Amino acid sequence: MSVRNSRAMTGVLIVFLASCVYGFLLDTISDPCSYSSNEIACRGRGLTSIPLFNLTRYTDVCLKFITLSDNKLTSIGNDSFTQLRSVNCSYTILFSDNNISQIDEYAFRGIEAHIEGLYLQRNSLHSLPEAISSSINLNMLFIDGNPIVSLNPSIMAKIGHSVTQFSVDMSLFQKWPTELHFLHELTHLSLYNIPFQYLDSSAFRGLTNVQFLYIMGSNFIKIPNAICTLSSLNSLQIDNNYFLNESKSDVFEPCSHTTSLPNVISFSYSNNRADFFPNILTIFPSVKYIGMSNNGMRFMNADQFMDNFSVVRFGLHYEKFSQIPSSLNTFKSLEKLLLQNNLIEFIEDDDFIGLRNLTIINLDYNPIQYITNRAFQNNTQLTEVTLSHTLLTTIPTTVTMIPALQTLRLEANGIECTCELASLKIWNVSSIRIEGQCYQTNERIDQFIKTYISAGRC
Ligand SMILES: *[C@@H]1O[C@H](CO)[C@@H](O)[C@H](O)[C@H]1NC(C)=O
Ligand SMILES: *[C@@H]1O[C@H](CO)[C@@H](O)[C@H](O)[C@H]1NC(C)=O
Ligand SMILES: *[C@@H]1O[C@H](CO)[C@@H](O)[C@H](O)[C@H]1NC(C)=O
Ligand SMILES: *[C@@H]1O[C@H](CO)[C@@H](O)[C@H](O)[C@H]1NC(C)=O
Ligand SMILES: *[C@@H]1O[C@H](CO)[C@@H](O)[C@H](O)[C@H]1NC(C)=O
Ligand SMILES: *[C@@H]1O[C@H](CO)[C@@H](O)[C@H](O)[C@H]1NC(C)=O
Ligand SMILES: *[C@@H]1O[C@H](CO)[C@@H](O)[C@H](O)[C@H]1NC(C)=O
Ligand SMILES: *[C@@H]1O[C@H](CO)[C@@H](O)[C@H](O)[C@H]1NC(C)=O
Ligand SMILES: *[C@@H]1O[C@H](CO)[C@@H](O)[C@H](O)[C@H]1NC(C)=O
Repeated sequence: MSVRNSRAMTGVLIVFLASCVYGFLLDTISDPCSYSSNEIACRGRGLTSIPLFNLTRYTDVCLKFITLSDNKLTSIGNDSFTQLRSVNCSYTILFSDNNISQIDEYAFRGIEAHIEGLYLQRNSLHSLPEAISSSINLNMLFIDGNPIVSLNPSIMAKIGHSVTQFSVDMSLFQKWPTELHFLHELTHLSLYNIPFQYLDSSAFRGLTNVQFLYIMGSNFIKIPNAICTLSSLNSLQIDNNYFLNESKSDVFEPCSHTTSLPNVISFSYSNNRADFFPNILTIFPSVKYIGMSNNGMRFMNADQFMDNFSVVRFGLHYEKFSQIPSSLNTFKSLEKLLLQNNLIEFIEDDDFIGLRNLTIINLDYNPIQYITNRAFQNNTQLTEVTLSHTLLTTIPTTVTMIPALQTLRLEANGIECTCELASLKIWNVSSIRIEGQCYQTNERIDQFIKTYISAGRC
């Protein structure tokens, strides 16, 4: 590069840098936030204090969401939001992912009665802020990811009339917070890192409206029968609990007063350490949707089950099953079975024999070597079969006998498209979508079948 050229380049660079600095100043000094019809957006702007919002164009508009997440806020001072007081709006303020350890008592002065949601996850609060006591319409309070040590009873009593969604991290709790019972309107409860192994059966007393419970990362050896008092519970999610394995399949402590929780229809169970399928059916006899993944599960004991007619969708992904558990056949109403990423090598004649209503099956990412000819004999309702990323080298004959089949996925297999596939001659593929390519030629499998086999060129 000549001297002249490099000087010209430097000039361009200076202009470029100058415009960056100018842009930067515009962004952070005059107004770090952007505005839309319902949000003041100030996420990730490196803020160390609550900025003055420019409401010039929004004097009569409800800016419902105030997004201050992912900044460098450490405290929220008195009167931080008085600017927003004139309009009768309800506000949801997002403070997640800052380093807030202090919220002054009058931080929300002027809008306290209009606060609907406070997202305070992943900050540095040690207690519930007194400032929320006067938020008589507070609906959602999320404070998980803070080093909270206890739940102040007088604050809990005040917010208990309105809060319906609540999350908290209990890592530093010395004892169970019985103050939870003040939240009698609660419908959604998320509890992170419960440090206890057992709970008193009355731990959830009073929470009769809770429909959704999330237990993330507890020291529980069994899921305590305290959940049995949650009479409205319809969805339960249990993740990252590393000691459940000790109880084998008896993960749920039997209910002491009621026999079961008949309203639970959805159960999700992931990243736990659990070799065994848990005893969910006795405690949730009406469960319809089961989703499990990444528990390291290997065993599902048939003798534990009776025929069951409620489960319609069953996901069992990223587990360690090396064959299809025969107890699956007790789920007589099953319509959707998802078994991706297990260790299944063979599919045998009777593996799915009881599943007369099965419509969708997914066996992606299993090291399947073969599927017997009668494997889907009783699954006459099947419309979608997914067998991608397996070790299959041929199209299993059994799929040609599925009368309702609409979609067959065979992607990323080593399917050898030779006249060996001629056994598929009588298979009418014209109304079936087949995804996947021949191993050697990359020709689409359905093309091969049409041009070679059906056309009689083999
Ligand atoms: C506030 O916004 C108005 C209109 O969008 C703009 O004209 C004005 O310069 C802004 N004020 C400041 C201090 O940024
Ligand atoms: C916040 O306001 C209250 C009442 O006006 C006052 O007692 C308190 O000292 C103030 N806090 C700070 C940090 O200024
Ligand atoms: C604010 O709005 C609520 C409901 O939208 C209403 O009940 C209340 O009277 C309003 N308050 C004022 C001062 O306008
Ligand atoms: C958060 O604030 C505390 C003081 O309250 C400080 O010790 C800590 O280093 C801060 N953490 C980060 C990630 O800035
Ligand atoms: C618990 O899990 C580990 C593997 O994570 C396994 O080796 C062990 O045998 C399991 N214990 C029981 C009681 O199932
Ligand atoms: C499901 O199975 C459990 C135990 O195996 C049984 O108690 C329950 O009644 C069954 N539910 C239905 C709807 O069949
Ligand atoms: C299978 O599906 C049919 C039609 O939806 C339904 O009538 C029948 O009860 C189902 N069978 C079972 C075992 O759930
Ligand atoms: C499988 O289907 C056959 C005939 O359709 C039926 O007689 C048999 O009972 C079915 N098996 C099971 C376990 O449902
Ligand atoms: C194949 O199926 C299509 C659509 O279902 C039908 O129109 C066609 O006649 C069938 N072909 C043969 C040879 O049966």
